Amino acid sequence: MHPYGCCYNRIMKILLVSSSARGHAIAEALSRSHHNPQLICLSPNKNPGLIALAHRHEAMDIMNFDAVLKIAKEEQPEFAFIGPDDPIAGGLADLLEEQGIPCIAPRKSLARIESSKAFARELMQKHGINSYPKFMAYQRADAKSMDRFIRGDCGGEFVVKYDALKGGKGVKVSGEHIHSVEEGIRYAEECIAECGKVVIEEKLIGVEFSLMSFASGTEVADMPAVQDHKRAYEGDTGPNTGGMGTYSCPDHSLPFLTPSDLEEAKKINRQIAAALLKECGHPYRGILYGGFIAVRDGVRVIEYNARFGDPEALNVLPILSSDFVELCQSMIEGTFNENFVRFAHQATVCKYITPKSYPDGKMEKGQEVIFPKSTETGRIYYGDISQEGSGKLLLGGSRSSGIVGMGSSLEEAEKIAQKMCSEVKGPVRFRADIGTEELVQQRVEMMKKLRS
Ligand code: GLY
Repeated sequence: MHPYGCCYNRIMKILLVSSSARGHAIAEALSRSHHNPQLICLSPNKNPGLIALAHRHEAMDIMNFDAVLKIAKEEQPEFAFIGPDDPIAGGLADLLEEQGIPCIAPRKSLARIESSKAFARELMQKHGINSYPKFMAYQRADAKSMDRFIRGDCGGEFVVKYDALKGGKGVKVSGEHIHSVEEGIRYAEECIAECGKVVIEEKLIGVEFSLMSFASGTEVADMPAVQDHKRAYEGDTGPNTGGMGTYSCPDHSLPFLTPSDLEEAKKINRQIAAALLKECGHPYRGILYGGFIAVRDGVRVIEYNARFGDPEALNVLPILSSDFVELCQSMIEGTFNENFVRFAHQATVCKYITPKSYPDGKMEKGQEVIFPKSTETGRIYYGDISQEGSGKLLLGGSRSSGIVGMGSSLEEAEKIAQKMCSEVKGPVRFRADIGTEELVQQRVEMMKKLRS
């Protein structure tokens, strides 16, 4: 007999390569499918969310591609979903596809849209996608030219971008991380010495937002827009982090955006997908994440990512009403179009629970944390948390879990998230201000002022 029995009863396996709460949210969305897939989950820690959902879970180094391929060959999944940036940029999708396992994640050449800031800017320039700041890419230290560009074209306000992945720590902004032109040039020179290239660009003033789209070559379908909060502490203070929390609104836009801002961002994501196809000769299949900033006269691109945002995935996936497995299959089979993508018209607020000393986070590593139970409207997505044999949950050093409130209004969603966060017991903290009326209103006022 065929191992799966009759073809109609065939068990569907999906390989999920994951590293954080984003992976838990992806696993949960795949599990909701009426295909009841068996998830083969690989993650660096003993993630309790993945362990609960997986048919097979391996805590392993997900950058050990030989080990990942060995499991893929054993399991022969229908497809693979690759969550984090590092394995995508490293070409894991290329290797899996060589083995006949289609991936929801772009190939290495296409993933340069995230892994090389110079490639992203030059792609936009070459293909006439004119929504970028003034920039220069340097391959050799030329302090004189950098100085001229920063003081002249950028008016002294600038951003220096490491030209490779650096765990979210490669971008330095004047007035925030850099306090003089000379310091900026020194950092640019360090970037060239380390990774061979650097991008310097003008600093844009406005309000940032994320617009992620499902992309399958030239077919692109958008998710609700989301706003992330990168700073560690309330009132947008403290060092940058991977993201302390996010919100999205029932109308799938954001209160500080005009309809034309959102349309512009959607158009740019489509132009990028088309440009990537032309440039790389291969369709971009996966999540295309546009990091935008609404400015005085429209929208500009800050950066692109080749994956779901974290925490942005935690906002959009719980309200995805389409069958996520079928959506992925349609991307693989080439039948994908916007009709496959439906989201509930609900507000979401995500607040990340982190160790008290995060972004350092080392002090509380290994200490126990106790969470309330997930509910229909208040979800917990586990990130850097390990489940011990005893069932205890122990903190890693990074973001521990994203708590997501869902409701018919932002106010309702925020209250749910806030209540659940305050019930977590352990040496942890979160940003109480994310998703509150006061903070959202500040963004609205800033845009009004900028555009008045
Ligand atoms: N939320 C920021 C990121 O995923 O890169």
